[in-house]
Amino acid sequence: MSQIRSVVLGCGSYLPARILSNDELARSVETTDEWIVQRTGIRERHIAAPGEMTSDLALHAARAALANSHVQADSIDLIVLATSTPDFTFPATAVTVQAGLGITRGAAFDLQAVCSGFVYALSVTDAMLRTGMYKRALVIGAETFSRILDWNDRTTCVLFGDGAGAVVLEAQEQPGTTADRGILTTHLRSDGRHKSKLYVDGGPSSTQTVGHLRMEGREVFKHAVAMITDVIYDAFKATGTSAEDIDWFVPHQANKRIIDGSAHKLGIAPEKVVMTVDRHGNTSAASIPLALADAVADRRIKRGHLVLLEAMGGGFTWGSAMLRW
Ligand code: ACO
Repeated sequence: MSQIRSVVLGCGSYLPARILSNDELARSVETTDEWIVQRTGIRERHIAAPGEMTSDLALHAARAALANSHVQADSIDLIVLATSTPDFTFPATAVTVQAGLGITRGAAFDLQAVCSGFVYALSVTDAMLRTGMYKRALVIGAETFSRILDWNDRTTCVLFGDGAGAVVLEAQEQPGTTADRGILTTHLRSDGRHKSKLYVDGGPSSTQTVGHLRMEGREVFKHAVAMITDVIYDAFKATGTSAEDIDWFVPHQANKRIIDGSAHKLGIAPEKVVMTVDRHGNTSAASIPLALADAVADRRIKRGHLVLLEAMGGGFTWGSAMLRW
């Protein structure tokens, strides 16, 4: 039976101009390029310029996604922006992007699920498109994590970077099989018992400050692979697919060891894994759309390919999405 699916029309991304290398970081905190590369796979990350805000990054990425999709901004009736580093406590960064694009109809809101934000945003948007409420959506992941890092804490400041990525989704009638284009399944999970393992020690209601990122890195690492693979098995089960059917695995880019460990456990071949963590660091909600845009731009991901996404992050939150490009 035919079914409405959320089909990707195109994607785009943006990285701030300034690149911060491991060697440069090693001049301000006690670390080395060798330690960072060995433990994380990260070589460099991009850092937003003074005054450059999350909405600026998001707007660049959104414009690139619209151009890649060959659609006009005023055809968008829904904007969902995943971020943990909004411009302001309110209004939502999404409405700044909406205004920047000159859109005056439909809805725009932010969604916060830390590193899982983009997968959460895709899932929520997919549900809204499939009900017929909206027709064409921009889903954006945008972050300026450099603003919430403690630059004296070598255990966290070496891991993160700034950036933004976006996709345009359109509700389209499809035959209703796993050969359909569009989002085939999404799976979201969270477990708040882990909330103090990765958090920001400030906020409007608690400290009236923005705060800094704090993390028990080893604890996060310990749970990551099991949670990621668990929710991917849910996606395989829901679609009747397996690792061999996947054309591209585009994981949240937190750490090369977590990505390699997850792919190995799932039986996904290394050449099918899209990896940008070496150049981008962990850009939280922006990492997946940044990686997607990379793999689309260099023509690895093509129309008809089966693409598997996953993310895990603060909360803990985690999730997967499978779609046919
Ligand atoms: N440079 C040099 N030494 C360092 C650094 C650094 N930047 N950071 C920590 N160390 C030291 C520690 O102080 C410790 O020294 P000690 O043995 O003298 O006490 C030593 O290195 C080992 O520290 P560990 O924390 O045990 O190092 P580990 O091998 O666990 O690696 C890391 C740390 C990279 C953070 C790892 O735990 C990890 O990848 N965790 C996952 C965290 C993550 O990716 N979070 C992102 C958000 S969540 C997500 O997106 C999935």
